[in-house]
Amino acid sequence: MKLLVTGGLGFIGSNFIRLVLRERPEWSVTNLDLVTYAGNPANLRDLDSDPRYCFVKGDIADGVAVSKAIEGCDAVVNFAAESHVDRSIMSAAPFVRTNVTGTLVLLEAVREHGGRLVHVSTDEVYGTLGPGDPPFTERTPLDPTSPYAASKAAADLLVLAFAKTHGIDAVITRCCNNYGPYQFPEKLIPLMITNAIEGKRLPVYGDGRQVRDWIHVEDHASGVLAALERGRPGAVYNFGSRAERYNLDVVHRIVELVGADPGLVEHVKDRPAHDRRYAIDPSLAERELGWRPARSFDEGLEQTVRWFQDNREWWSAVKDGSYQRFYQEWYGGRS
Ligand code: NAD
Ligand code: TYD
Repeated sequence: MKLLVTGGLGFIGSNFIRLVLRERPEWSVTNLDLVTYAGNPANLRDLDSDPRYCFVKGDIADGVAVSKAIEGCDAVVNFAAESHVDRSIMSAAPFVRTNVTGTLVLLEAVREHGGRLVHVSTDEVYGTLGPGDPPFTERTPLDPTSPYAASKAAADLLVLAFAKTHGIDAVITRCCNNYGPYQFPEKLIPLMITNAIEGKRLPVYGDGRQVRDWIHVEDHASGVLAALERGRPGAVYNFGSRAERYNLDVVHRIVELVGADPGLVEHVKDRPAHDRRYAIDPSLAERELGWRPARSFDEGLEQTVRWFQDNREWWSAVKDGSYQRFYQEWYGGRS
């Protein structure tokens, strides 16, 4: 199998490529990535000299670059995206360009070239749940609240429309919140771990009683591989690990694991339109794909804290000048 992976220098894409080349030694991977602030060549440094891996710098919204990259490939897995809710609140345009226009360009290329497309989406397209609501299923209506989630929902609808209208072979995956090695420290878990290690304040939005369902990135990656190999054309699969946690409990556990001062935890002004709860019903993926997450949240979080403690060089380089400017702009006025 010759695979085109887009956004493979990001958090989940890099973990997916590493998993694929480990589990499917006869496969090869071309990685098309624009190398935005979130795309980091250091995430796949270990594959630099692997002949099965080829990196191409390019934009999924650029039809010429995509047509060239897809040449000779049997399937495409699309991870390329603007992925952070807070940045989408600051400026939505890059989200529409990459997540919507970029997906459309990929769809046109797949339509022309053939082969399967796995489009990696998110549970955030379903909007928010109340405390007693049942978890999201694949039939839950789309009701996104953030510009990020709205751009992902728009892309999902385009993928489904191309599957129906043009008969392309596409599968959509919608996963809950990921955590693990190489996650950019703008998201809750790596931000809290790295700040705790540095003795910096730990900014919890509002009362911290929002709920997220957490999955280790390698469990998500194995689900995407299962969808690629065994997914039904036109199907949507939810991935989750039935690990709902309050944000505040996650932050306090990180403080404990790092051995930081609990006084660093600080409640700050809430994110606008902050979704209160996400929860996923993964039974369709379990049944049809034979997929199951392999790690519990407790062991995965411990392992992740250790990874960040052991890889300070990686995240110190990532928390560079542009990161500091983002941090100041977003968190500066929140206390
Ligand atoms: P990320 O922000 O870490 O990485 C995104 C990657 O896409 C980067 O390497 C970036 O350089 C690349 N990219 C951005 N714009 C591009 C463009 N126009 N052309 C080519 N490459 C481009 O994101 P992530 O956390 O790895 O998320 C990957 C996918 O998984 C996204 O589609 C996201 O919506 C989805 N997802 C993420 C989570 C999560 O918890 N992180 C959960 C569910 C679904
Ligand atoms: P995040 O990692 O941004 O993922 P998402 O918003 O896509 O779920 O945030 C996870 C949860 O943590 C979410 O409820 C917002 C909250 N949060 C904080 O309380 N403080 C922070 O600094 C960040 C980044 C997130």
